[in-house]
Amino acid sequence: MPQARPLRSAATGALSGTLRVPGDKSISHRSLMFGAVAVGETVIHGLLEGEDVLNTAAAMRALGAQAERGADGVWRVRGAGLGGLAEPAGVLDMGNSGTAARLLIGLVASHPITTFFTGDASLVKRPMMRVITPLERMGASFVSRAGGRLPLAVVGTDQTVPFTYRLPVASAQVKSAVLLCGLNTAGVTTVIESEPTRDHTELMLRHFGATVTTERLEDGALAVSVTGQPELTGREIFVPADPSSAAFPLVAALLRPGSEVLLRDVGMNPRRTGLYDTLLEMGADIGFENRRNLAGEPVADLRVRGGELKGVVVPPDRAPSMIDEYPILAVAASFAQGTTVMLGLKELRVKESDRLAMVAEGLTRCGVRVEVGADDSLTVYGTGRPPQGGATVATAMDHRIAMSFLVMGMGTAEPVQVDDGAFIDTSFPGFTTVMNGLGARIGAA
Ligand code: S3P
Repeated sequence: MPQARPLRSAATGALSGTLRVPGDKSISHRSLMFGAVAVGETVIHGLLEGEDVLNTAAAMRALGAQAERGADGVWRVRGAGLGGLAEPAGVLDMGNSGTAARLLIGLVASHPITTFFTGDASLVKRPMMRVITPLERMGASFVSRAGGRLPLAVVGTDQTVPFTYRLPVASAQVKSAVLLCGLNTAGVTTVIESEPTRDHTELMLRHFGATVTTERLEDGALAVSVTGQPELTGREIFVPADPSSAAFPLVAALLRPGSEVLLRDVGMNPRRTGLYDTLLEMGADIGFENRRNLAGEPVADLRVRGGELKGVVVPPDRAPSMIDEYPILAVAASFAQGTTVMLGLKELRVKESDRLAMVAEGLTRCGVRVEVGADDSLTVYGTGRPPQGGATVATAMDHRIAMSFLVMGMGTAEPVQVDDGAFIDTSFPGFTTVMNGLGARIGAA
């Protein structure tokens, strides 16, 4: 576990600058994993070099692929071929990353190898039954701690059977785990989702040559099917800037009057843009310029100007498209005029921390009135004036809680401290430098 790194953020003037936040985490994990089961070389530009993704690269090497960073910053993966993953000699430590753990568990489940997984003190608390249940139905076996927690062992098989699974929770990780097991399973594997979750797995598998289809069912749900055992061929991948990381400088600029910040190459996949919809409804000034495609994923440059925000109601069906952005949205809401109600936040309880509890606790400490509903809603009472701040906020090994409250301190009456900023490196290496380059005052506490 990295040593705790307390950080402090003090009020700033107007922010200005142009930047490209690091690569998309979801796409980065997938590019390494899919490259590792393709034939030939996959070349990845703009890979996120955060700790979570570096753990995935190490895991793919342990499974028999080559994955190296060139001196030019470009990553090259030489795949073992589908079905060709080798049994790792040691335990795969996925660090802080639920995505890496759950997707890889799915991928190895249809290989005739036994793989041991573990993670850090946050990851070993997170639920894995959500992937174990469907993967057992497909033929893999598991040994796990009580309640399906890591560490766990996957006893995979090349005799998995195709399966149709209706997701009990709106989770791209569970969808992806089942589809990736289906990838090396003869026949067609289908996942049905009632609420659309991020579709990077589907888009990228197609890019590598797999047949992935989507069909809308009578009840409105989406059926996503993968045809097993395709020829996957190494590809070139350009990773967009991560919209979930861009959210931090974006909200910081909105909160500081007179700011103007340009965020380049930000992912605009419609399954990820719920935060923009919400902020626009709140009255934010965000321009989407230079819209284009980057290897199958839509991107744009975002021009953000500071201004006043007003409270809104965020409907529950928007949650999957902004699931990682609620902590920073709650911070924005605490500066807004009026009440913001965020509905349907149950899944926030099983992220890197119980984000619903941590956000409510941190905002309360900073002098903001909040309510957590029995229905897992969060209500933030904005007064239109900057909150007080002047508190130390607990982050519970959660990078997004740490970054959200550091952004908050950029506008509060008194500075905000976070007890540990070390986990920011999992998703946004260089966060402090980037933010300070825009005008922030973030430093060691
Ligand atoms: C992710 C899916 C989401 C998200 C996570 C990344 C992915 O998790 O919170 O940060 O890359 O598939 P869930 O599938 O658990 O909602």
